[in-house]
Amino acid sequence: MSQALDPIAPLRDFVVAMTRLVETTRDEPTLLAQGRQLLAKLIADDGWLAPDFAQPDPAAYRQYLLYCDPLERFSVVSFVWGPGQKTPVHDHTVWGLVGMLRGAELCQEYAPQGGRVVSRGVEHTLKPGMIEAVSPTVGDWHVVANALADRPSISIHVYGANIGAVRRHMLDARGELRDFVSGYSSALVPNLWDRSAVVRAQAA
Ligand code: FE2
Repeated sequence: MSQALDPIAPLRDFVVAMTRLVETTRDEPTLLAQGRQLLAKLIADDGWLAPDFAQPDPAAYRQYLLYCDPLERFSVVSFVWGPGQKTPVHDHTVWGLVGMLRGAELCQEYAPQGGRVVSRGVEHTLKPGMIEAVSPTVGDWHVVANALADRPSISIHVYGANIGAVRRHMLDARGELRDFVSGYSSALVPNLWDRSAVVRAQAA
C-alpha cells in the first residue's frame, strides 16, 4: 500500500494494536512492555503526524489528542514543545509511555517524600526513537522541557486512561501541591478512517 494514499496508516495500525493489547490484559508490566514495542514502531516513522497536530504555540506547550479508546482504556497524545517551554512538576496517576518523534526532550524526575514532592536528581534527554515509562509504580513525577532552544520538539504519548480528563497533581509556581485536569489543546482529532483512496486505487 502506498503511504501517500494513506499517510495516517501507522497511527491507525498503532490504535488497532493497542486496542487488541488492552483487550487481552490489564497487567501494567505487560502493557508497558508490549506498548513500548508498538510505540517504538509508531515513532520510527515520522511521516504520519498531520501538521494540525504538530503546531507549537508561542504561549505554552500543546497537547493534541490523537485518539481515545471508547472505553477510555488508553489515549494517544502528541505533545508539541516550542523553544524554552516546559511542564510544571506533575504526576499522571496511570501508566504512560513517552516516545520521542522529533527534536529532544529533557526529563527531570521527582518523587513524593514526607508529604512533599522533591527532585530525585535524575535527568534524561530523550532523542528520536527513545521511549520512557511513567506510572505510580515505576515513577510518576517529573518535569519535561524542550531540550532545544531553537526549534520545536514533539513526543507521542500513550496513557492507560483518557489522560486529558484524569484528575492528577502538580506543583504550582510557589511549590504547593495542586489538583489539575490537563484537558487537550484542540477540539479536533485526526480522521483515522478515511481509507477511500486506497480502496479506489485497488479497484482501478
Ligand atoms: Fe508527564
